[in-house]
Amino acid sequence: MGNKIVVYKSNTGLTKKYAEWIAAALDCEAIPLKQATRSRLAEFATVIFGGPIHASRLQNLNRFLRLAAGQAGRQLVVFATGAAPMGDPMVKQYQDFAERNPLMKGIPFFYCESGINLQAMHGLMRLMMKQIAAAQAKQLDSTQAEEARQKAENGFDNSNQANIQPLVDYVRGLG
Ligand SMILES: Cc1cc2nc3c(=O)[nH]c(=O)nc-3n(C[C@H](O)[C@H](O)[C@H](O)COP(=O)(O)O)c2cc1C
Repeated sequence: MGNKIVVYKSNTGLTKKYAEWIAAALDCEAIPLKQATRSRLAEFATVIFGGPIHASRLQNLNRFLRLAAGQAGRQLVVFATGAAPMGDPMVKQYQDFAERNPLMKGIPFFYCESGINLQAMHGLMRLMMKQIAAAQAKQLDSTQAEEARQKAENGFDNSNQANIQPLVDYVRGLG
């Protein structure tokens, strides 16, 4: 088996950006999930998968695990991107959800804060996201609400390359 590969599912480009940062740091390739066939993955000893959190769940986790899990001697690593800030209590819920999956046994989970890329969404989704954010803003005090309204209007991107470090260190530690 070869060395490492990053596989990602990305609808609006934010997970793709993290996947490419990780691939560059580990000196390997990043490919979209739709190109990741079982035979293509068979070459790699370490397979890293990343996708977005939608409604508190890592999208396409099962699809990836069914494709890649169960191959003797292979290490899998999973990361999620989401709008929730690093360290937000919600992130623990995302992790718990992933780790309840029986196929996640022995597979580490990492989280990377991203944002909301409204520009890359189609019209209906953009409208829905704005409405959700506007509803949330109503529950906040006035300064926070103004900030939330801005985010709802324009989207935001808090992606930060430094967030990949724990994952990169883990994978390098595998040798
Ligand atoms: C329908 C939808 C639901 C989302 N739900 C969550 C969520 O529950 N928690 C969160 O932190 N981010 C949530 N997000 C934000 C995405 O996780 C974030 O924008 C992600 O990085 C997008 O990745 P992508 O650009 O690779 O598709 C949601 C985004 C969309 C479009």
